[in-house]
Amino acid sequence: MKTIVIKQDESFEEAAKILRRGGLVAFPTETVYGLGGDALNPESSRKIYAAKNRPSDNPLIVHICDISALNRLCAEVPEYAYKLAQRFWPGPLTMILKKSAAVPYETTGGLDTVAVRMPDHEGALKLLRESGVFIAAPSANLSGKPSPTTAEHVFHDMNGRIDAIIDGGEVGIGIESTIVDLTKAPFAILRPGYITPVMLESVLKEVIYDPAIIDANASKDLRPRAPGMKYRHYAPKAELTIIKGLEQSVVDKINSMVENNILSGLKTGIIAAEETADRYKAGNVKIAGSIKDPVTISHSLYGILRSFDDEETDVIYSESFDRERLCGDNGGSASDEEFAGAIMNRLTKAAGHHIMEV
Ligand code: TXA
Ligand code: MG
Repeated sequence: MKTIVIKQDESFEEAAKILRRGGLVAFPTETVYGLGGDALNPESSRKIYAAKNRPSDNPLIVHICDISALNRLCAEVPEYAYKLAQRFWPGPLTMILKKSAAVPYETTGGLDTVAVRMPDHEGALKLLRESGVFIAAPSANLSGKPSPTTAEHVFHDMNGRIDAIIDGGEVGIGIESTIVDLTKAPFAILRPGYITPVMLESVLKEVIYDPAIIDANASKDLRPRAPGMKYRHYAPKAELTIIKGLEQSVVDKINSMVENNILSGLKTGIIAAEETADRYKAGNVKIAGSIKDPVTISHSLYGILRSFDDEETDVIYSESFDRERLCGDNGGSASDEEFAGAIMNRLTKAAGHHIMEV
């Protein structure tokens, strides 16, 4: 199959046609690129799983451009779901609700619930409007790779496997949307993201984190409520370790490990904050962003992991970007602090839970 690339400011006529006839089009959103197909066409959903090499029990998110779509896709839409939609859509919030008969089980991975979100991105919204279809889309990476944050990442993974890619440049947030399950009490965050519990509590009385995603030890016994959270995602080829502790101790520890690696002939990568990057003496240092602005870090994280793969790095050390560090002395908001938790959730998974305390 030949994969065509369409720029976001070009005509979407062809892309819309591809979707309507059951084909696949990758597109940008404000979080990560999605791999879209017609959510109401079971054949399209099957193609999505095949293109990604993804297990078909892992449900897809249905993207919409109009709140009224909730009535078509969901069996019941409680008042608070509309309130959340009005407040946070378009935006990086996915709601889980009971599905209607219109949504095929191929799209929901066999579940009676459906995940819905309205993305806050011109390219995504234009594609939704022009095609007139509800677009089922997981992240547009091959299963096991970090979610794509540029059209080039998508091309790398999906060239020859899908019909088209819409190139909208780099995405903004860089990590996947927050997922909130509204189908049973207490309402729970199944995947942390840019929209934090503190923000949701402006509409919902109580929101908890799914206990299975809070810490690594708990998750060994508990089954995450979002099927996708049980897979080991985002793992780079190199062995990745997060180094946590006082800033200068972390830098010193990494410097000494890099020195040893050089003697052993290991190619070492370092993921550092803008504030500390120039304190490293050797190794391939990549700047994630500023600890004063967590979204600069989420924005570049997956791209950095991919580039270490391309450069055939053997070992990667990452500074920790935990809540204390990102918000401790910087006067960050409670929401910034929760968002730091979302970033660490992705980084910790990529590291296979390897954390070294110094
Ligand atoms: O930011 C995002 O959400 C991106 C962009 C493209 O919108 N999409 C994305 O999709 O991250 P994906 O497929 O990579 O992740 C979807 C997650 C998976 O963990 C899946 O298990 C969960 O959502 N999910 C989907 N439907 C669900 C449902 N009905 N119940 C529980 N979890 C669900
Ligand atoms: Mg994904």
